[in-house]
Amino acid sequence: MFSVSRNQFGPDFTFGAATAAYQIEGGQTDGRGPAIWDSFAATPGNTDKGDSGVMACDHYNRWPEDLDLMRDAGFDAYRFSFAWPRLIPAGTGTVNDKGVDFYDRLIDGMLERGLKPYATLYHWDLPSPLQDKGGWMNRDIAGWFADYAVLVQQKFGDRLDAMATINEPWCVAFLSHFIGAHAPGYRDIRATARAMHHVLLAHGTAVNALRAEGAKNLGIVLNLQKSEPATDSPADKAATHLFDGIFNRWYLDGVLKGEYPADIVKRLGDHLPDGFADDMAVVGTPIDWLGINYYTRSLIADDPATPAFPAKPVEGPLEKTDIGWEIYPQGLTDLLVRVSDDYKKLPIFVTENGMAEVEGIDDPRRVNYYEAHLKAVLEAQRQGADVRGYFAWSLLDNFEWAEGYAKRFGLVHVDYETQKRSPKASYRAFQGLLHNS
Ligand code: FCB
Repeated sequence: MFSVSRNQFGPDFTFGAATAAYQIEGGQTDGRGPAIWDSFAATPGNTDKGDSGVMACDHYNRWPEDLDLMRDAGFDAYRFSFAWPRLIPAGTGTVNDKGVDFYDRLIDGMLERGLKPYATLYHWDLPSPLQDKGGWMNRDIAGWFADYAVLVQQKFGDRLDAMATINEPWCVAFLSHFIGAHAPGYRDIRATARAMHHVLLAHGTAVNALRAEGAKNLGIVLNLQKSEPATDSPADKAATHLFDGIFNRWYLDGVLKGEYPADIVKRLGDHLPDGFADDMAVVGTPIDWLGINYYTRSLIADDPATPAFPAKPVEGPLEKTDIGWEIYPQGLTDLLVRVSDDYKKLPIFVTENGMAEVEGIDDPRRVNYYEAHLKAVLEAQRQGADVRGYFAWSLLDNFEWAEGYAKRFGLVHVDYETQKRSPKASYRAFQGLLHNS
């Protein structure tokens, strides 16, 4: 049991759990088109054991059971993502009716169980034919994405409580085009700079297109990382500011102020697309809510060996999760308060938070992790942040991207041989919280 109760969070606070299409759905043979994660995973060395989302949790077929688990836990809302290649297999053009039928059933299934649908439009499964045209490096992606967003609004918008455009644009741009750890796996600064701008241009273009269709309650989901210097040296402090700029300020300033931080613009220089400044009103299109995903902090040291971005995360001393991330609940409070104090006040949702833990249904460290982070949310509210909801990552153990199936984040254990679901102690802890107050 958690030592917090739900009424402490306020009367209208929303509790939910989150997933993403590529990580759980499987069901790739029913008219769904190829995605960049299929080819990335098929390239040796990119994912643990070459794992991919081909089968994942077979949620495409087992969704009623998964929604029952959501309902039985007592969650108010389910954060899920639409798979763009399932709805529009080539990314643009022809719609896959079986994909539309699947999300019709899924959303109706949520409503039948009293779960509010919180949808994400893009959680990383870009249709491969769009990658062939340059993907996030190509400015045209703003229009491709907006057309897809409008399709979602026309088919499902009347039944959605909230819609987020992009999940974690830092991962879409920097992790995938500079570090190369995620699809499409590039390591190129020009590709990165273009993706950093186009991902936010696509976000703003889609928000405007959705509003024109009558959509309400639109947001974006940013992954923010508390960045702290590894030492007190001026070089490490400067590196920390740079890291914060690339990770946090680029997206916060872009979306919430309609401007990019000058130090990062200067560093990216000519790699940014010509005329990007003319797009800033679209990038900064007002949104209705902000989602923040939080897992850990980064300790940052100067890295002269990487002149383009001389800032590197170094290992910290705190207790770590099974994926090696330090457990640092204070960072969640700090980020929520910072965003609330430094930017226009908006309703904020913690759209992901959770930890990887070794396999098993007895997961006391995860119960402690959740409890500490729920308290961190309460502390942020006490300090004035308008936090309206909290989503645990994740409902199920699932395909953890480059880590394959080796890292488990679920409240519910999945046996990938049999697809049997078994609730963990952390699931029961949420059930206790949500049923007892
Ligand atoms: C986030 C992703 C999510 C999951 C968690 C652990 O960055 O949004 O899909 O992989 O990390």
